[in-house]
Amino acid sequence: MKKKLLFLGPPGAGKGTQANLFCKKYGLDHLSTGDLLRDEVSSGSVLGLKAEEVMNKGELVSDELVLSIVEGRLENINEGWLLDGFPRNVNQANSLKSLLEKINQPLEAVVLIKCADDYLIKRLLERGRQDDNQQVIKNRLEIYREKTSPLIALYKKEGILEEIEGNADIDVVFSCIEKSLG
Ligand code: AP5
Repeated sequence: MKKKLLFLGPPGAGKGTQANLFCKKYGLDHLSTGDLLRDEVSSGSVLGLKAEEVMNKGELVSDELVLSIVEGRLENINEGWLLDGFPRNVNQANSLKSLLEKINQPLEAVVLIKCADDYLIKRLLERGRQDDNQQVIKNRLEIYREKTSPLIALYKKEGILEEIEGNADIDVVFSCIEKSLG
């Protein structure tokens, strides 16, 4: 089983859900930049306050802040890890590549969880997180298309992309991911 992973996909595709299950079952470190940023917001720090404003609009927090958070975590990471919600643009992807070269732990697979917009919007509205409302979801989807989706071609070119249909029951999606990484 591959153990240096990245889960990619639009908001609501199920990255966090599947990453949690996968990390629990296979003992990987789960590094979710969304969760880390929400922790920063809860701490009430100045950086957290800045990040909250951006997150509530559905935009991307600055690369500088995200990279500083990720860098610290990657330096102390185990041999098995799963990145969720990072990288989010080409600049972050290039920085990740350099960070991973530095710790000599290259990415083994990128799992793209695909799902049609109608399902994504329905799931997110039902969840109702602070950034799950019609206008912000629309913005998050646009930003995904514009800034994050170019990473698909990049990882396809590297030959490490696995494409999974996310519009199925959670356990079905999980089995497909396991099969693709086996
Ligand atoms: P982040 O927390 O990463 O949010 P996201 O990418 O929008 O992802 P979601 O958590 O909404 O979706 P998911 O794919 O993880 O789905 P989930 O499993 O939760 O980022 C939030 C914000 O932080 C960003 O907008 C940005 O501002 C900032 N940020 C984060 N990373 C950043 C970075 N690297 N650079 C800059 N800014 C960054 O599932 C969603 C719902 O669907 C749940 O209720 C779940 O129960 C349900 N569900 C899941 N799978 C299924 C299924 N198969 N069937 C039915 N329901 C399902």
